[in-house]
Amino acid sequence: MLMLGSPLRLNPRTNLDGVDQETSEILYLGSLAPNSHNSQPWKVTLHERSGIVDIQLDDARPLLASDPDRRESYITLGCYIQTLQEAFEAYGRNADVEVHADGSATLTFEKWRTGGIDTAKVSILKKRHTDKRIFSKEPIHCECLQGLGESTICYPESTEGYRAIADATLSAVAMQADDLAFREELAQWMRYSDDEVRETGDGITAEMLGLGRIMKVLYYLTTNRESAEGDAFARQGIETAENQVRNCGAFLAITGGDSPEELIDVGRETIRVWLACTRLNISVQPMSAALEVNETRAQLESELGRDLPVQMILRIGYVKDYGENMGVRRDLDEYIEIVG
Ligand SMILES: Cc1cc2nc3c(=O)[nH]c(=O)nc-3n(C[C@H](O)[C@H](O)[C@H](O)COP(=O)(O)O)c2cc1C
Repeated sequence: MLMLGSPLRLNPRTNLDGVDQETSEILYLGSLAPNSHNSQPWKVTLHERSGIVDIQLDDARPLLASDPDRRESYITLGCYIQTLQEAFEAYGRNADVEVHADGSATLTFEKWRTGGIDTAKVSILKKRHTDKRIFSKEPIHCECLQGLGESTICYPESTEGYRAIADATLSAVAMQADDLAFREELAQWMRYSDDEVRETGDGITAEMLGLGRIMKVLYYLTTNRESAEGDAFARQGIETAENQVRNCGAFLAITGGDSPEELIDVGRETIRVWLACTRLNISVQPMSAALEVNETRAQLESELGRDLPVQMILRIGYVKDYGENMGVRRDLDEYIEIVG
C-alpha cells in the first residue's frame, strides 16, 4: 500500500536530435516554468545554428473555460520566457529576449559559455514549485523581498488589501464550483494515477496537490474524471481554498496591462518575484480564481484601487519543509522543433 503512495518524480526525455546536452538541459530548466493547470501551452522552434529560440502559444492546449481571453496563457508564456532566459544565464550564457506585439517572442542566446555555471541559480530554478499546502501565518516582512518591481504590491496578513483578496478569492471559488464548464476543464487537467502522469507528462498530480503517501493512495483510489466533475469534489475545492487563504503570510499582487506583450511582462515579473521567494524559502501558490471571474475581478480592482489591473495573485508564506518540484513536464521533443 505504502509503495503505491511513493512520490512520483518524472524525468522527461531531454535529448534533442543535433542539440548539445547543455542546451537541452537549459531547455529542460525552462520547461520547469509555472503555468496554468500544468498545461504547458508553449510551442518552441530552436534555430540551433543561429542560437535563436522562437516561442509562441500552442493553440492546441487552450483553457477555454478558465481563460477564454488567453490572459493567463500569455502570463504563462512570460513565465516560460523568463525562466528560459534565467536558465541560459545560470549556465553562463547571455540571452536577450524580444517580445512581439502578437504575443510571440524571440530569445537569442550565446552558443558558448562566457561565464561560469551559477550552480546556486540552477538549484533555485529546479527547486521552485507551486505549494498548495497551508503555510504559517507568520507575517511576511515585505522588505525582505528585495528587488520587487513597482508592479508588485505586497499585502501582509491582516491588512485591508489581504482581506479584499481573500474575500474575492473565496467568492470566485464558490462561483467556479457552480460552473460546469469550469469543473469539466479542471477535471480534464487533474491526474488520477501515476501511469496517467507518466503518459501525459502534464496536469495536476496528487503530489502537486500536497498529498502525502497515504492520502495519495486514497485519492487515486477514490477519484476519477467523473467524480472530479461532481458536487462533492467542488465542495472540497471550496474548503481547501478557505484553508489556503486563511493560512499564509501575505498576498502579492502583480499588476499590468491587458495586451499580450504586457501580460508576458507580468509573467516575467512573476518569475523574478517567485525566484526571490524561493531563495528565501518562502512558499508560493498563485491563486487566480478572483481574476478569472469577471465580478470578483471588478470588485478587487475597485477595492485595491491600483492604477493598472491586478493580473496575478500569489499566496506566500513560510513552511517547515519547502518540498520539491516533481518535474511533471512533457518530453522536450514533444513541443520543440529543431531547425538547422
Ligand atoms: C498564470 C498562472 C495561473 C495559475 N493559477 C493557479 C491557481 O489558481 N491555483 C493554483 O494552485 N496554482 C495556480 N498556478 C500554478 C500552476 O498550477 C503550476 O505552476 C503548475 O501546475 C506547474 O506546477 P509547478 O509550479 O509546481 O511547477 C498558476 C500558474 C500560472 C502561471
